Amino acid sequence: MNQSEKFIGILGIGTYVPEKIMTNLDFEKIVDTSDEWITTRTGIKERRIASAEEATSDLATKAALKALENAKTSPDEIDLIIVNTATPDMLFPSSACLVQENIKAKNAAAFDLSAGCTGFVYGLVTGVQFIKTGLYKKVLVIGADALSKIVDFTDRNTCVLFGDGAGAVVLGETEQGYGILGADLNSDGSGGEYLKIAGGGSRNPATIETLNNKLHYLYMNGPEVFKFAVKAMGDTSLRALKKSNLTVNDVSWFIPHQANTRIISAAAKRLKIPMEQVVINLDKYGNTSAATIPLALEEALNDGKIKNDDILVFVGFGAGLTWGACVVKWRSLC
Ligand code: ACO
Repeated sequence: MNQSEKFIGILGIGTYVPEKIMTNLDFEKIVDTSDEWITTRTGIKERRIASAEEATSDLATKAALKALENAKTSPDEIDLIIVNTATPDMLFPSSACLVQENIKAKNAAAFDLSAGCTGFVYGLVTGVQFIKTGLYKKVLVIGADALSKIVDFTDRNTCVLFGDGAGAVVLGETEQGYGILGADLNSDGSGGEYLKIAGGGSRNPATIETLNNKLHYLYMNGPEVFKFAVKAMGDTSLRALKKSNLTVNDVSWFIPHQANTRIISAAAKRLKIPMEQVVINLDKYGNTSAATIPLALEEALNDGKIKNDDILVFVGFGAGLTWGACVVKWRSLC
């Protein structure tokens, strides 16, 4: 280990989910579905839904304030805010700038990062680079999404899958040997068609026709995404472990993007990681896109599962297509 090498870790974490709970039984009343189908095909039992007044930056702000408190860091100390989201409040200004104003991080630069459900992993890796180069000391990385605002609640293929939430971490220099040890990021734009919102951007600006054709809603080819995800999660986890000079046998906890328990268990099987070492909480929140990994991480911490020196693998996949993994050697917060 190079003694002058900087190690960058998570100094604090905070999450937020909206109060309103929507159960599978609630969906039975609005689309042709059943609790049995949703539970067996996805593992989801309920999800949180933002109120009409709540946008992504509101969820992100609440998570960010908790992360700052947890990291004993004042907003002034934050040099950069990265909001990873597929559901920004608006095309511009960025949701990161809205959070910057809300938390009064007056010294921070701010930008949004678009990598779909891989957003949190992309954001972590991006934040780490700014600290490694010495440009910044503390970076706030937030995964926040309000997918309920972009799903078609008459389309049973998608509406039952998603929920709203946010998770934030403060990144900074940590003890030698701890923090983010290695990472692997990927993209394949040829799969962009499988997961998209086609309307409202510069390709199909919003018109009455785009609205009538429902182009402002999320479109997903579920089976294609499923096939891609199982292979992608395994491959990228192995590459990230290799870059960290570790193997699957060193992994204490696998913390995957929470989209579908069948995808997670198939990926864990490919990696030969027992399900007892996999963190799953999508039964309570559904797929909250960029928020799933920090929500699962915080829950595992609160449950006392994660101990000092544990090796964690965060792994995600999503729109783009994008996928990636990050290996972290855990050291207890503050
Ligand atoms: N209730 C009842 N039946 C349903 C529902 C529902 N909610 N949704 C679909 N079905 C039906 C379909 O219409 C189909 O019926 P048919 O055979 O009569 O045509 C049948 O169930 C099977 O449909 P499939 O799509 O083949 O079902 P599958 O087993 O693939 O499960 C699912 C669908 C859950 C969407 C799965 O494909 C999946 O999880 N895909 C990945 C989704 C994902 O990970 N998305 C990540 C998004 S990441 C981001 O960046 C936003």
